[in-house]
Amino acid sequence: MHRHDLALIGFGGVNRALAEIIQTRGEELADDLGFGLRVVAITDLRLGSLMQTGGIDLGAVLALPEGATFAGLPGGAGVPQNDFVIRNTTADIVVEATFTNPVDGEPAVSHVRAALESGKSVTTTNKGPVALAGAELSRIAAEHGVRFEYEGAVMSGTPVLRFASETLKGLRVSGVQGILNGTSNFVLGRMETGMTLAEAVAEAQALGYAEADPTADIEGSDVQLKVVILANEILGAAITTADVRRRGISRVSPEDIAAAAAEGRRWKLIGSATRTPDGEVVATVEPVALPLEHALAGVSGPTNAVSFDTDLLGTVTVSGPGAGRIETAYALLSDIIAVDQHARTLAEAAR
Ligand code: HSE
Repeated sequence: MHRHDLALIGFGGVNRALAEIIQTRGEELADDLGFGLRVVAITDLRLGSLMQTGGIDLGAVLALPEGATFAGLPGGAGVPQNDFVIRNTTADIVVEATFTNPVDGEPAVSHVRAALESGKSVTTTNKGPVALAGAELSRIAAEHGVRFEYEGAVMSGTPVLRFASETLKGLRVSGVQGILNGTSNFVLGRMETGMTLAEAVAEAQALGYAEADPTADIEGSDVQLKVVILANEILGAAITTADVRRRGISRVSPEDIAAAAAEGRRWKLIGSATRTPDGEVVATVEPVALPLEHALAGVSGPTNAVSFDTDLLGTVTVSGPGAGRIETAYALLSDIIAVDQHARTLAEAAR
């Protein structure tokens, strides 16, 4: 059976969850999808690097005790050696899952570039490289005849980008609006029950929704990166974060929440991108008091949702989780499936 070999760059929650999925569901997936999956390299800031061309025993790696590194394993080293591993691995797909850097996207941008330049496809859920260098990286992928897939960069495993490009094919999409940050949506919901912003943020942190520093969640910069990706991917724009006017929820007061409720409205942090009749794309992140009948008004807790404005169907809304280690790992699996399908399409066309 055909097989894809993977190199996992970063072995925190998300790539570890992908390894668990492969470990527990690999055979079932092979039956369903028609290809096998094998991990042949892993790098991680704390664990070091591991390359085994015959396939890594994921059970053994997942069971490594706290504080252990890859140094004691065959093909292992105590330091990550990301660039060396990315360039020299026998993997055909590099799965990039290091931390998101919202300023320049590094080191993920360099990881993705190195992988594409050395002829490997890349899948990632990392917003940084997609929002800040997406066009350049897609061009490098095309030049090298490989794929750059990043479905999970906007709403983790909930389909958005391929939903727009494949399922909504044939429609004209003029705009997208969404609830793209689970923490801020959870916080606004808790404020509706009488909590202060600070109390609600503390609860979101305790439940693991918010980042350790929740500023990017609350002040809208997490959503700003996602709006750049939606605008460029779905509306064909070429905008950067500087083009997205941004206001977070820190100035939404308990009085604002009560006034909206009295009018039958709910505050939501909305990221949107709209193509105006003159062809310009206008993108914003701001709190909006939505009427209760709006498709996004009923999206509560940490759930995310995106509405697409289309010409033939009107508004189509997709909602689901926007974070979570297993959910985000599923996005990577969907990207791997997309890489495989593209390769099959090319092979069939060449026959
Ligand atoms: N911290 C983000 C959220 C998750 O609350 O939605 C990833 O962007």
